[in-house]
Amino acid sequence: MKTLHILVLHGPNLNLLGTREPAHYGATTLACINQQLIELGKELNIEINHYQSNHEGELVDRIQQAGADGIDGIIINPAAYTHTSIALRDAMLASAIAFVEVHLSNIHKREAFRHKSMLADAAIGVVAGFGATSYLLALRGLKTELSNTDE
Ligand code: DQA
Repeated sequence: MKTLHILVLHGPNLNLLGTREPAHYGATTLACINQQLIELGKELNIEINHYQSNHEGELVDRIQQAGADGIDGIIINPAAYTHTSIALRDAMLASAIAFVEVHLSNIHKREAFRHKSMLADAAIGVVAGFGATSYLLALRGLKTELSNTDE
């Protein structure tokens, strides 16, 4: 079975996980989430690349680069850009790479402005509300999806 290459993108303020609003985002640090993804990736024969930025354009650059890097799928938590960024939506559509949108919190249980996502309708799926586990569920889902399209 061929090794899948998955890029995990984390948007603004997610570098603060561990201390940032733990009631919404839990106590797990970003480094710990990345480590958990790498470990699950080893079990599933997936190589994980991860990247965090507080800057919209840097995230766009990374998405544009993903095709050239041979990335098979993207897991993205666009954080606040979820609700505002046509640029991230356009970058994902231009890349034509299958992706899953992830949120630690259940955005539909929160303020109305968080209910809208600029990316969700272009995603394979959305996982929200399970804290750090949202990322692991997304990885399993993406793996299943990419393995099915491979056949
Ligand atoms: C978030 C939800 C967003 O509304 C928020 O701006 C974030 C994190 C989440 O993971 O729950 O920064 O994407």
